[in-house]
Amino acid sequence: MAKSSETRAVHAGRHDLKELGVHAVPLDLSSTYPVCDLEAGVASIDSLAAGGQPKGSSIYARLHNPTVARFESALAELEGTLESVAFASGMAAMTAALLAVSMEGKRHVVAVRPLYGGSDHLLASGLLGVEVDWVTAEEIAGALRPDTALVIIETPANPTLDLVDIRKAADAAGGVPLLVDNTFATPILQRPAELGATMVLHSATKFLGGHGDVVGGVVATDGEWGRKLRQVRVATGGILHPLAAYLLVRGLPTLPMRVERAQETAMDLARCLEAHPAVERVLYPGMGEQSELVGTQMRGPGAILAFEVVGGFDGARKVMESLRMITPAVSLGSTDTLIQHPAGLTHRVVEESAKEQTGISAGLLRLAVGLEGVEDLWQDLETGLAMACTSEPVELGSVTR
Ligand SMILES: Cc1ncc(COP(=O)(O)O)c(C=O)c1O
Repeated sequence: MAKSSETRAVHAGRHDLKELGVHAVPLDLSSTYPVCDLEAGVASIDSLAAGGQPKGSSIYARLHNPTVARFESALAELEGTLESVAFASGMAAMTAALLAVSMEGKRHVVAVRPLYGGSDHLLASGLLGVEVDWVTAEEIAGALRPDTALVIIETPANPTLDLVDIRKAADAAGGVPLLVDNTFATPILQRPAELGATMVLHSATKFLGGHGDVVGGVVATDGEWGRKLRQVRVATGGILHPLAAYLLVRGLPTLPMRVERAQETAMDLARCLEAHPAVERVLYPGMGEQSELVGTQMRGPGAILAFEVVGGFDGARKVMESLRMITPAVSLGSTDTLIQHPAGLTHRVVEESAKEQTGISAGLLRLAVGLEGVEDLWQDLETGLAMACTSEPVELGSVTR
């Protein structure tokens, strides 16, 4: 019988602990490893350089680390993929994916906006020599060329929470690999590989880490792409730090609880915000046009929402600056609730016209809901919103779920 995601989260990456005679996962901080058998060492180097596994000794921590490998096997289990490859950050993971797909000389990428500002910037800057066509989800098939190396989508998308139908995107991509950024949903709410994604990318800095103290990235994928990604990682050196891998494995067992609890709170807050006169619109999966994907593609709407306040930039600034408990900070998926201004911060580097087209307006704020009590969060938001406009308070209890 298939195990529940809760059970998987608790036991993933820990199957050998009994055998090792330990309860907590071991942390290996070695930067280098003894090579006592030179012939085996040579074989290990050959295997690692080709994107394979070590033959005995890990040789050197940039090439392979057992704690990182443990996180990778846990994440692959949660995403339902054969392998995953972990990187120093989400952007290092995105860079490696772009380098891996362009190994055969193809340089064209089709991408659906919005994406996280850093991903958008990496593609638009041409830094890695890729040529990008920005399309809507419906335009993917028409934008493909013989040299298209990758299709990229993010769902829910940062910061507008737009949803893309993963199965339709995979069908439209045909034989071209599809990369889905699953950072917002986590494998608890959505498993893109089951819907046809070739690579599932996470900024592990967010929900996977969960406590605001890890920077990391990971791509869950099949054996062939796993090998190419490791080959790129060995060559470019973007491996996850073992301490970060340790913290990630430590945090995974509580991932389902954290995501579901924060999601419940986000659902309440979304409804309260929608009823507030200082809020022009709320962006939250399930509230808009693509609500049919919530409950099907996604198990639930998630713990992140965005809302536009009256008064544009000034209104948003007043809200952000007058909150007393909610942390004004970029990032998401932490234990505490974070609020940020996408147009001015995470998506500052995105072309103005693209921000306009995708609704990243001056009045938009993104709220990454944490684990505090919903009443306390609403009270704080109300105080902030009162600064953006004078209004009657909205009672939490008056808005039903
Ligand atoms: C959806 C998404 N993808 C990727 C990234 C990049 O991850 P990192 O900051 O770990 O490099 C982020 C960062 O905010 C993100 O929100």
